[in-house]
Amino acid sequence: MGAKSGSGHILCVVGARPNFMKIAPIMRAFAAPESALEARLVHTGQHYDEAMKQAFFEQLNIPEPDIDLEVGSGSHAQQTAEIMKRFEPVLDEAPPAAVLVVGDVNSTIACALVAVKKGIPVIHVEAGLRSGDRSMPEEINRILTDQLSDLLFLTEDGARENLRREGIADDKAHFVGNVMIDTLLYNLRDAVPAVQTLAAAGVEGPFGLVTLHRPSNVDEPAVLRRLLEVLSEASHSTPLLFPIHPRTAARIEQAGLGSLLENAAITTLPPLGYLEMLGLMKEARVVFTDSGGIQEETTALGVPCITLRENTERPITVEEGTNSVVGTDPAAILAAYRQVLADGGKRGRSPELWDGAAARRIVGEINRWVEARS
Ligand code: UD1
Repeated sequence: MGAKSGSGHILCVVGARPNFMKIAPIMRAFAAPESALEARLVHTGQHYDEAMKQAFFEQLNIPEPDIDLEVGSGSHAQQTAEIMKRFEPVLDEAPPAAVLVVGDVNSTIACALVAVKKGIPVIHVEAGLRSGDRSMPEEINRILTDQLSDLLFLTEDGARENLRREGIADDKAHFVGNVMIDTLLYNLRDAVPAVQTLAAAGVEGPFGLVTLHRPSNVDEPAVLRRLLEVLSEASHSTPLLFPIHPRTAARIEQAGLGSLLENAAITTLPPLGYLEMLGLMKEARVVFTDSGGIQEETTALGVPCITLRENTERPITVEEGTNSVVGTDPAAILAAYRQVLADGGKRGRSPELWDGAAARRIVGEINRWVEARS
């Protein structure tokens, strides 16, 4: 830090796993000679396990955080409040030109709220996405963070309409593409070959991949059971690999559903690193998921994605990509799956500006914006 002089620094925030892939290309673009502004990094500590955090910092070459708030887990209120309390002194000590937040996790809203109350501008990367489902904690985080932001960067141009509906001025929003896909394209050649991960897991041949962690899918035992039953059925024609998020592992154990997995052709794994996951996604016959990022990554890779949710905040992955949003009804899930077995599933194309250069556009725009304000 401190290598650049002039217009001050941008304080970038990460907290949870999906933030890490988004911040990596942004930090790199700030470090490039074209940027007069330097970036500093705060990690809130929302995700802290080796598998949920450190592996990503190492594989994605994210600089060690300048500050780690070490908040850890808790209820939404506890976690958000704790992040806010610990973030405030960071801003007091060295006020940045702006605070940059990514995505829609609790760390995103918590830091945006602290900054705006101190008169520090907020920049939101991945703004304007809406699922329309307010029971989803991330939806609340998205709506509120966008309201607080001075500069909003969009992954799909359609998101602009969502912002207009909420009264956010058009000139604050810039359609720049997708930093998650910057990271995917940058790392594609270094992905760990799927055969390697499969061999270590004792799985052979064509396979499918599963991820599941949304509270709406895993916190209610009846829903979780239904999903595991349907995945178990699917696994009889394609063996499935299932890297398990800690929340999901805990819920399966609490609900006593482990035997459902043991009796199926489903191999469970601990959460995987980015490069292992990328290698698997690239080669998978099909991906079942409730993740936001994986809907985008499979679209960029051209791999069929069956999304186990009733809605998506990323409609372009359905309109242009390989994503089918089927909900949690077994018949609908199996119908989409049979389609994949029959003809390889949905084909699509990579959306506009998902070209690997989103972070450079973002950092260029931030430099111009800070310059114009000073
Ligand atoms: C968070 C994000 C979600 C994102 C997901 C990706 C919010 C509201 N949700 O959900 O949008 O898709 O991250 O993973 O911010 N835990 C560990 N080790 C860790 C982190 C968590 O064991 O390093 C366990 C704890 O038991 C914790 C639970 O996972 O209570 C949930 O973690 P939390 O950060 O509250 O939310 P996620 O479900 O991970």
